[in-house]
Amino acid sequence: MSEKLALVTGASRGIGKACALELAKAGYDIIVNYAGNAEAAEKTVQEIKALGVDAAAYKFDVSNKEEVDKSVAEIIEKYGRIDVLVNNAGITRDGLFMRMSAENWNAVINTNLSSAFFVSQPVVKVMMKQRNGAIVNMASVVGVSGNAGQANYSAAKAGLIGLTKTLAKELGSRGIRVNAVAPGFINTDMTKDLDTSKFTDFIPLKRLGEPEDIAKAVKFLAVDADYVTGQVLEVDGGLII
Ligand code: NAI
Repeated sequence: MSEKLALVTGASRGIGKACALELAKAGYDIIVNYAGNAEAAEKTVQEIKALGVDAAAYKFDVSNKEEVDKSVAEIIEKYGRIDVLVNNAGITRDGLFMRMSAENWNAVINTNLSSAFFVSQPVVKVMMKQRNGAIVNMASVVGVSGNAGQANYSAAKAGLIGLTKTLAKELGSRGIRVNAVAPGFINTDMTKDLDTSKFTDFIPLKRLGEPEDIAKAVKFLAVDADYVTGQVLEVDGGLII
């Protein structure tokens, strides 16, 4: 077992999985949070262990405060510390604002934004005791620019950016850094139903991003960027320059 532990939410696939693997390569033991797919989470755990660090899967719904509190308490009880938190879990429920149901609004706000409040609070408590820690929130370029058809998602991601900057100010003196990554279009299950060919024309780097492109930025902010806090790093191939 390593002496450093990272908790990545929604880490059984996509960007979260890539972040978990990148942090494992940097020598962190990894807690793989997942919502439902135990098989995929276990596969991620095995891939992480093959890199020579420890890993374990914990099932909890990040939008459910009771479940989060119970699981984070168990993790802290077992491992005694959390050095890096990546608030990655997220969903979309797209639709034009005038037709958006309250159900789809609440689901997206709860899963993408309230989740970061629920998970960060108990994790920050242990980071404060350590007087050390790093949090990376998975925002989105649409949280910066807005996007027609994504009022709920853009609002949640903009909220995450506000949370990031506020926590950076509140927690800096405790040795805790808080940053966000804002991905553009990334090749994952979330974007698989979009006709992405029409987007590449607008991306200066002329391709979609891969989960690993985001993971490298997360690792930089979480591990290497000792004097960086409260920042939003756009990793989007230049999409919203
Ligand atoms: P994905 O759909 O492959 O992964 C999302 C993960 O979050 C899944 O593993 C899912 O099970 C998990 N999750 C969802 N609800 C959860 C809950 N209540 N509790 C625990 N886990 C839950 O999508 P992707 O692309 O890997 O997304 C990861 C993050 O990156 C999300 O926050 C997303 O909003 C963000 N993002 C993705 C972009 C893209 O183009 N793919 C662009 C900008 C941001």
